[in-house]
Amino acid sequence: MDAITRFLNACRREPVDRPPVWLMRQAGRYQATYQAVRKKVSFMELCRTPELACEVTMMPLDQLGADAAILFSDILVPLEPMGAKVWFEGGPNVAPPVRDAAGVDRLRMDAGVADEVGYVYEAVELIRRELGDSLPLLGFSGSPWTLASYLVEGGSSRHHHELKSLMYGEPEALERLLDGVSTVVSAYLRRQIEAGCDAVQLFDSWGGLLDPARWQRFSGRWLTRILEDIRDTGVPTIVYVNGGAHLLDELSMLPCDVLSVDWRTPLADVRARIGDSQALQGNVDPAILRAPIPVIRESVRECLESYGPDPGHVMNLGHGITPDATVETAKAFVDAAKEFGEAFGGTP
Ligand code: CP3
Repeated sequence: MDAITRFLNACRREPVDRPPVWLMRQAGRYQATYQAVRKKVSFMELCRTPELACEVTMMPLDQLGADAAILFSDILVPLEPMGAKVWFEGGPNVAPPVRDAAGVDRLRMDAGVADEVGYVYEAVELIRRELGDSLPLLGFSGSPWTLASYLVEGGSSRHHHELKSLMYGEPEALERLLDGVSTVVSAYLRRQIEAGCDAVQLFDSWGGLLDPARWQRFSGRWLTRILEDIRDTGVPTIVYVNGGAHLLDELSMLPCDVLSVDWRTPLADVRARIGDSQALQGNVDPAILRAPIPVIRESVRECLESYGPDPGHVMNLGHGITPDATVETAKAFVDAAKEFGEAFGGTP
């Protein structure tokens, strides 16, 4: 079975010879080859240079044997043409922070914003050309809620006090922000798909901060609008939510093909809760990549067994690789997923 068919079938809950495997954040600082590129250019320059973004995208394919490529970029890239300055220095920084209705009004949030990051689509075209039809290519975006968290906080945040102040104090202003960001995200994903992506993933990395009713109002509703907007493209959609075990009823209602879950809930339990309208992606604890190789292999087997023999599993971590992983342990994860996976996937 070729790799594109394997990936698309798994997303659509159709039988495969084995579940495909890739790793969130599979290109990054744990690779010496990535560090060598980063010595020469800043992270944002890397994202803005299609040839370099393409080179870095290919690294985990050669080094790990991943079954899918993911565009090398960052969820914060489309915030720049909206009028925010983005830079990485001790983590992500976004300025000026959006703290009230006037701040929301200063942002540009029409669909044309997506046209301003042509270098992203050029990178997709280059990667597509390099891959040919050997592997599927994933595009991605942050969810409106998660992008809003960076816009409002001005970067990463532990407690998200500013975001929550806006949510409780000026919920209509926050909704206006989410509405505008959703327009940009729909156009941005559509352009990535037109440039050659086979599937797209939305990262709702901060969705777990909310109770179910507020998650629905401030995140789920906007994800749903985007998923419905791009449905006509026909490409599979994946939604990743971190810390969303209390949101499974709401997540099961999302019109996406694949739900990507963190490591805190075994896939068998997730399946029992959500029913079978979506495929599942994940969900081994990324910290496993610091463990001895036999422990990694056992965790991969445990995850495959938890999902079981039915079709509809994309093997992955439950969150992104951290810089303290090694190429050796990441490859052990991929190798084990391929080896043990042959007994799973619904075998056509
Ligand atoms: O998966 C891939 O290989 C594709 C590339 C990718 C990156 N970031 C590269 C990156 C993807 C899909 C992302 C998504 C992303 N970025 C998310 C959602 C996923 C998640 O982790 O929840 C978020 C929240 C961001 C925002 C972001 N970008 C943060 C918080 C950081 C700093 C993190 C840290 O560990 O320091 C980044 C920077 C970043 N994005 C790096 C990479 C490889 C490291 C930058 C460097 O080289 O210094």
